[in-house]
Amino acid sequence: MDFVKDMRAKARSMQKRLVLPEGTEPRTVKAARILADESLAASVVLLGKESEIEAIAEQQGVHLEGIAIINPHIDKELDAYAHEYFELRKHKGMTEEQAKIDITDPLRWGSMMVRMGAADVSVAGAENTTGDVLRSGLAIIGTVPGLKTASSCFVMQTADPAWGKEGNLIFSDCAVIPDPTAEQLADIAESAAQSCREFLGVEPVVALMSFSTKGSAKHDDVTKVQTAVEILKGRKPNFVFDGELQADAALVPSVTDKKAPGSPVKGRVNTLIFPDLGAGNIGYKLVQRLGKAEAFGPFLQGFAKPISDLSRGASVDDIVTTAAVTLSRAK
Ligand code: ACO
Repeated sequence: MDFVKDMRAKARSMQKRLVLPEGTEPRTVKAARILADESLAASVVLLGKESEIEAIAEQQGVHLEGIAIINPHIDKELDAYAHEYFELRKHKGMTEEQAKIDITDPLRWGSMMVRMGAADVSVAGAENTTGDVLRSGLAIIGTVPGLKTASSCFVMQTADPAWGKEGNLIFSDCAVIPDPTAEQLADIAESAAQSCREFLGVEPVVALMSFSTKGSAKHDDVTKVQTAVEILKGRKPNFVFDGELQADAALVPSVTDKKAPGSPVKGRVNTLIFPDLGAGNIGYKLVQRLGKAEAFGPFLQGFAKPISDLSRGASVDDIVTTAAVTLSRAK
């Protein structure tokens, strides 16, 4: 399995519509050219003032043929999008007048295009923070019906095919929720299971991890994971899961036998749920650096429609890959 190749092929076959809100950001403009040239999307839209985008494109030696430009300030949808934004935010004191100003923010406009069906996916974050990308998505796109929590996952490609699906595993949440509640952890597990199906193409086998296995330690942080497992059981999701498990009890069958005999996930785990963002973020970076694994992501999950956040250090190639992965998730 070659994750990047597979996702690019899927995006090419699906031909969905992409909006890149950071239309005046040089790496984004270059990525738009590649996405269009490689036919990874049915359409690619850059947001911003036409003259500014053209100037950046010229500086970067990129032509804009086949790439659309939308300037929210003068677009024909301005009133309709502003009204929709007002409706979404009026419970927070938003006025019609303010909505018309706020919706021209490219992140909000990109999310609104996805909400209103003018685009299938939005990808940003090359120059905006994760928090800002998330907030615009949360306010405008919202979460999948039935889930209250948006979160993220990484696809970790290890060199040992014994792990997960041919060496590939889902790690979650490593980028969004600093200290999830038990309810949020259960939501993260459900979203990660869905990500496992979409990204790895296999049925999820999920471990909710902790520094304790089946009550071996007592602490509020352990209780939180145990409660998340109980909440999940109550929801009767259609995937196999177990917890709370230490990482070795989750992954190594001989340790599972000792610490969690009879666990339904024994020897089959492909989706690892971390108890908080500290563990998740540090965990994926350790596996990436010390374990020499490839880390793809973070990919957002739990949103009603696909949006993605980029690292501000993202290369042009990273932007193309993230866009392809996000396009491959569109319905
Ligand atoms: N899922 C669903 N809704 C959420 C979530 C979530 N994960 N987080 C916040 N909300 C809701 C809030 O309830 C609120 O709703 P409301 O407007 O209806 O009241 C709204 O979204 C906005 O909430 P805020 O209070 O403004 O945002 P908050 O301070 O809770 O921050 C955020 C949320 C932006 C997601 C924050 O948790 C964050 O910045 N996370 C990113 C952490 C980070 O920086 N990671 C970087 C590491 S990335 C890497 O290394 C790969």
